[in-house]
Amino acid sequence: MRFYAVSGSASQQRTDCAIVGLYESGALSTAAGQLDAALGGRIGRLVKRRDVRGKAGEVLLLDVEGGPCERVLLVGLGKKESLGRRQYKKALLAAAAALARTGAQDAVSHLSSEPVAETDAYYRGRLAAESVGHGLYRVPAIRSSRRPPLPALRSFGIAVPHKDQKADAERGLEHGKGIAAGAALTRDLANLPANVCTPSYLAKQARELARQYRNVSVEVLDEPALRRLKMGAFLSVTAGTDEPARLIVLRYRGGAAGEAPVALVGKGVTFDSGGISLKQPLAMDEMKFDMTGAASVLGAVKAAAEIGLPLNLVGVVPACENMPSGRATKPGDIVRSMSGQTIEVINTDAEGRLILSDALTYARRFKPAVVVDIATLTGACVIALGAHTTAVMSNEDDLAAELTAAGRRAEDRAWHMPMAEEYHDQLKSPFADFTNSCGRDGGAITAACFLAKFTDGLRWAHLDIAGTAYQTGAHKGSTGRPVPLLMDFLIHRGRP
Ligand code: BES
Ligand code: MN
Ligand code: ZN
Repeated sequence: MRFYAVSGSASQQRTDCAIVGLYESGALSTAAGQLDAALGGRIGRLVKRRDVRGKAGEVLLLDVEGGPCERVLLVGLGKKESLGRRQYKKALLAAAAALARTGAQDAVSHLSSEPVAETDAYYRGRLAAESVGHGLYRVPAIRSSRRPPLPALRSFGIAVPHKDQKADAERGLEHGKGIAAGAALTRDLANLPANVCTPSYLAKQARELARQYRNVSVEVLDEPALRRLKMGAFLSVTAGTDEPARLIVLRYRGGAAGEAPVALVGKGVTFDSGGISLKQPLAMDEMKFDMTGAASVLGAVKAAAEIGLPLNLVGVVPACENMPSGRATKPGDIVRSMSGQTIEVINTDAEGRLILSDALTYARRFKPAVVVDIATLTGACVIALGAHTTAVMSNEDDLAAELTAAGRRAEDRAWHMPMAEEYHDQLKSPFADFTNSCGRDGGAITAACFLAKFTDGLRWAHLDIAGTAYQTGAHKGSTGRPVPLLMDFLIHRGRP
């Protein structure tokens, strides 16, 4: 997809489809007004007849053959006073979905000329490209019949009110395109079933990234290497499966040679059955998404390479399955992590923190400036925040604030949760240094407290994406989150 910026009146702009906004009050956006005048009041009449009401996300496609454009897509923007990133993104997603059902090869959105609160031309461009990329994404469905045809759309323009904003908008579009490409990789990997997307498959995809981008390299460690590193916690999770585990280490070099990298550590449980602490059958299929943290690390590396971010990145991905068998770890077993600390495995379903603990210890060797781990870690996080907000925990409030601010700017929301000393008591063990699981109370927080035992001296944050990584129900599938948040965080770090 080619993205571009234009300026000037909507009535002059040649395109297969002009996308213009309508507010809930019935007020036309500036561009809708311009087209309305050019079309002899046709849009105004539709509004007066109440054929379209301007609710956020509502769309109406008009055939206006003969004018500068062949079609007008009228998109609801909701209440004018509350037009912010959320409504803007919602409108663009709806527009992309509607466009995908037409034969239009080009479209120009004028929504970016509206006063979207707290955004500039850069963000309106970036969110537009991200949203269109998101809306046109198709799941890698495995079917016997032929795939449905892909959308015809080949290029997408956005309008800016003044031509001196074109450069900023184009930079935003370029970034948004890279972020969408990264998120699409994340979604592809997460949507694939666990019998396809195995730890070895993730490693293969990481190698593919290193092949595609000259400043990306990869190293894949197999189980003998993990044993040499004494990764007892990681190995205890993979003990029950026949599928070999992998530790995938990706490097992106966009900064100066000696510059400390940002480390991204992603949970890569390609299937989480719970192990001997077996899960209930209900929704167990969704545990193929338990590698979304890993997939978002690959997605972020891809996006960084696409954008050409001026910083260094290290991705550390522990990948394995969590399965029951005669060789599986049993509740009560005690394992020794790479850090030397011993863990009483009370519940084999609290496996994410075990593999992450060794991956976090491994990440130290890169002397990272910051470490962010990303994991579908706890059901408790879904209870606490639902499906809309990622949880952020950190050993540094400033870092947590940077991440939640990135989430706001990227419209990929996150919320800072506490991680005070008191919570650590719940992990006490009579038999080992600590346990891997405790009561239900504050489960997302105690999981973060467990990880904190492996991050002494690091600037570290943890993103629990159990609620936000994928949608359930009729639209089951990966959301590509938190790639937009991570990329906004990285883009801001890359700037002085
Ligand atoms: N992968 C799950 C967490 C999860 C649950 C993600 C639901 C997405 C949706 C994780 O490995 C897990 O099983 N956590 C346990 C921890 C408990 C045993 C302390 C949980 O949340 O129940
Ligand atoms: Mn589990
Ligand atoms: Zn899990």
